[in-house]
Amino acid sequence: MNTSDKVPPAIELEGVTKDFSVGLRGVKLRAVDGLSLVVPEGEVFGLLGPNGSGKSTTIKVILGLLAPGAGVCRVFGAPGGTVEARRAIGYLPEAPYFYRYLSGTELVRFYAGICGVPRRGRDARVREVIEWVGLGGAAERRVGTYSKGMLQRIGLAQALVHDPRLVILDEPTAGVDPIGAAEISGLILKLKQRGKTVLITSHLLAQIEDVCDRVAILDRGRLILEGEVGELVGRRDRQALVVDKLPPEELAALGQWLAERGRRLVSVEQPRARLDKIFLERVGKAPAGSEQPSSS
Ligand SMILES: Nc1ncnc2c1ncn2[C@@H]1O[C@H](COP(=O)(O)OP(=O)(O)OP(=O)(O)O)[C@@H](O)[C@H]1O
Ligand SMILES: [Mg+2]
Repeated sequence: MNTSDKVPPAIELEGVTKDFSVGLRGVKLRAVDGLSLVVPEGEVFGLLGPNGSGKSTTIKVILGLLAPGAGVCRVFGAPGGTVEARRAIGYLPEAPYFYRYLSGTELVRFYAGICGVPRRGRDARVREVIEWVGLGGAAERRVGTYSKGMLQRIGLAQALVHDPRLVILDEPTAGVDPIGAAEISGLILKLKQRGKTVLITSHLLAQIEDVCDRVAILDRGRLILEGEVGELVGRRDRQALVVDKLPPEELAALGQWLAERGRRLVSVEQPRARLDKIFLERVGKAPAGSEQPSSS
């Protein structure tokens, strides 16, 4: 195969290091330390790590907002920071600040202009993307009146308006309730279905587990673990059976049956539902965009 036919990965980091000078004496702080990562096109990739581990700094290097002190960053084969690389990316910053007196439509139209969405068809595209994130009913309201969940969704609309191939979401569910977080997870999975690549950071590890194909964990700027979510959380050498109302004598007989075959019954547990699942079942899934008061 001709090597030029090979599709470049969405993100490629090779030995990226980023130092900051802090304090009056300019003491060096290494925020990212020799980080190498490859995110193939079409993957949902989770960047995890405790506060201050270098996730947002890594994202800023990918966006070209920060120049790495050492190492190389490429986006779909183009050097990070070039117009070509930047055009391919939609970005939702951590704790975004949006001008509160703009309506949702005005805000997304403003970003559409910056991102070079052609004037012809721009308004239709803005409407389409606002509908897609479930804010159609609140599009003409001022952003200053939006709830946190709505702010993150308008931020997502802003990031998607120019139909980027790579979507980078830095803590899209910070401060969002479980219903809003589940809606954002649903939108991320829809982006994946459309063939988009998504890089997400989140401290909601259950959400990461639900949406990501692969994750990397950073600690003090260094990569400490990387792998497929299924491989990391699953154990292929063990199976769990969930049985409805098994009487103790049948459980004992089952243990006996397994023992006769040289199998060890490792544990018998009461399955627990996840609290977020119970919350979603009980509160009831409100339709997207329903947080706005009725206009009638
Ligand atoms: N502009 C800056 N100047 C000086 N130090 C910085 C700067 N930006 C980040 N840092 C430092 O670099 C380290 C990594 O910060 P970063 O924001 O990348 O972490 P993070 O993993 O995104 O954390 P969080 O989970 O809190 O968002 C931290 O020690 C932080 O204080
Ligand atoms: Mg951060």
